[in-house]
Amino acid sequence: MAKRAKPAARRSPAAAKFPKVGPGELLTLLDFVRFAVSRFIEARLVFAHGTTDPTAEAAFLICEALHLHPDQFETFATARVTVAEGKKILGLIERRVSTRKPAAYLVNKIYMRGLPFYVDERTIVPRSFIGELLESHFGGDGNEEGGSLIPDPAAVESVLDLCTGSGCLAVLAAHHFPNAEIDAVDISKDALGVAARNVGDYGLADRLTLHRGDLFGPLGGKRYNLIISNPPYVDADGMADLPRECRAEPKLAFDGGADGLDIVRRILDQARAHLTPQGGLLCEIGRCRPQLEDAYPELPLLWLDTEDSEAEVFWIAAADL
Ligand SMILES: C[S@@+](CC[C@H](N)C(=O)[O-])C[C@H]1O[C@@H](n2cnc3c(N)ncnc32)[C@H](O)[C@@H]1O
Repeated sequence: MAKRAKPAARRSPAAAKFPKVGPGELLTLLDFVRFAVSRFIEARLVFAHGTTDPTAEAAFLICEALHLHPDQFETFATARVTVAEGKKILGLIERRVSTRKPAAYLVNKIYMRGLPFYVDERTIVPRSFIGELLESHFGGDGNEEGGSLIPDPAAVESVLDLCTGSGCLAVLAAHHFPNAEIDAVDISKDALGVAARNVGDYGLADRLTLHRGDLFGPLGGKRYNLIISNPPYVDADGMADLPRECRAEPKLAFDGGADGLDIVRRILDQARAHLTPQGGLLCEIGRCRPQLEDAYPELPLLWLDTEDSEAEVFWIAAADL
């Protein structure tokens, strides 16, 4: 989970009819972006899957249609597209509006920290804050708050990604900790199908192992230097209120029980037995901080911020668990 959902506008979705576009009316990438943004606002889409506003969403879809990396958009913003390319782009814009599916499902791709990942409806669209935190808080000179939580990434020998979904965080961890063996667990066979594809695409099968099962269940007594997890953490009210875009994703990826903490509690209760003495747990919990602090007043949880989040991820050292 991550990235705030932003509703785009006020008009009724029923009012959103997809207009015909005549030949030559839209020429450049920017023309198509403007058109897409107008349609997205008109249809009151929600942006919570890798982009947080209609302009970025439009630019992402257009780049994908043209086989460009999102970073290349500016270079070609004023370039014209061919008639065939224009049709493809308009088709994607129309599907985004009519299906309300996340853009990533329409193009089977999402970028995390600049890296492409395959994604389809068997798994949640990745958007965890943990990817950014691996870069900002694990290695290098540390971060705004001070030192690094693990100063030498090369010294990390083992990482566990619990609730791995598409495997994106496990792959990012494999890149960030070049000498680590990575285990990644999910209860969903479907999600693991997507994860296996990503592990294969990144050539990581020799040191990243996928396990199917319930949290620590498939791991025996194995201990890790680092556990990362972006578990389901949406509470009952949030589940009742999920935007249509999120209802296209597996419910299992969101549902955290009545107060959102069903899975998080189990992770916290069992993590110590699966960490090395100097290890630690990095866990995303969205807006559940108040409930979690009420449930575990004795735990010295360190709350971490990212560019788009405040105190939605905590760190706790094994010794404090
Ligand atoms: C919020 S998604 C996170 C996926 C991925 N880590 C990411 O950041 O995109 C949570 C994942 O937890 C999995 N899950 C739910 N309950 C689980 C359990 N008891 N044990 C293992 N995985 C579980 C779901 O199938 C889903 O893939």
